[in-house]
Amino acid sequence: MAMVCLSDFEAYAKKYLPKIAWDFFAAGADDCSTRDENILAYKRIRFRPRMLRDVSMMDIRTKLLGTEISFPVGIAPTGFHQLAWPDGEKSTARAAKAMNTCYIASTYSTCTLEEISAAAPGGLRWFQLYIHRNRAVSQQLVQRAEALGFQGLVLTADLPYTGKRRDDVRNGFRLPPHMKLKNLEGAFEVCKMSLLDPSVTWNDIYWLRSLTHLPIIIKGILTKEDAELAVRHGVQGIIVSNHGGRQLDGGPATIDALVEVAEAVQGRVEVYLDGGIRKGSDVLKALALGAKCVFIGRPALWGLAYKGEEGLQDVLRILQDEFRLSMALAGCASVSEIGPHLVQFSKL
Ligand code: FNR
Repeated sequence: MAMVCLSDFEAYAKKYLPKIAWDFFAAGADDCSTRDENILAYKRIRFRPRMLRDVSMMDIRTKLLGTEISFPVGIAPTGFHQLAWPDGEKSTARAAKAMNTCYIASTYSTCTLEEISAAAPGGLRWFQLYIHRNRAVSQQLVQRAEALGFQGLVLTADLPYTGKRRDDVRNGFRLPPHMKLKNLEGAFEVCKMSLLDPSVTWNDIYWLRSLTHLPIIIKGILTKEDAELAVRHGVQGIIVSNHGGRQLDGGPATIDALVEVAEAVQGRVEVYLDGGIRKGSDVLKALALGAKCVFIGRPALWGLAYKGEEGLQDVLRILQDEFRLSMALAGCASVSEIGPHLVQFSKL
């Protein structure tokens, strides 16, 4: 089977993963309208391509908080990579390093942070945190990540409770007994999402600040009001995200929310986006509307399901090639030339 675009990996994963794992990866909340809207919204945006602009030499590199990456696509935090491939997050870390991009490792990894670090020494990694009721557990995780050389702390803000994902309820989804949430082992009985702390507020950013020197990036912001609060509370980055449509169903597509967030932030901190990125031209649209970089969630899992580290590299390489081509066809030779002038966007 020729793997030409990300949908090919999706079809492969759907065919070969156990149904319960596929359903867990694919799930959105309720009737999945926000999950699907993340993808549909890109189709409503049209380019305003420019011609005759010498695109013989292309520079698609960018920087994330000062660190160079090969192109503006990183790997969003997703849990349970061993459901997709036996080596789990170790393969993810290797693929990200090989492609010189950023991997955000989830609190709900099935490998330890130590195993992830050892699998790809020197790779650019951020650690994603869910704050637990037992704050000592979260504190220890943050400090472990910092000591291991993770370069950013991503606080996920949109999961005080887990959204209602119908197929997971129907399937009685839980991790197979041989897989563990290894970073939380010993801390408490695993897989009890109710141990997440729903009382978290903006003030907890100050608490995190007191624990670590790492830059703090807040994930799950969808409005200008929250973007302003994030900047005021001193974060270094914002990820516009609706958790791949797995939390509140009925919220906006992230590409639509990006516009108001980027407008509110006015460059004071870096703004990123995840949700619905499936093509290089989606990346170009997100950058045109104000994202410094985007992250992929499910497509990374499909790559892992296809061939582990190699499959994920294939996914990233395809996105990279498509992004470079879209840029060139739109008349941009470097990412610094990408801007709002490149798109027609009815909500602008
Ligand atoms: C996620 N996401 C997520 N986010 C997070 O902060 N911590 C996590 O552990 C997880 N786990 C997780 C598992 C699975 C199976 C999915 C699909 C998603 C959300 C993720 O980081 C990201 O926001 C979305 O996946 C982006 O949307 P796409 O790229 O999947 O469309």
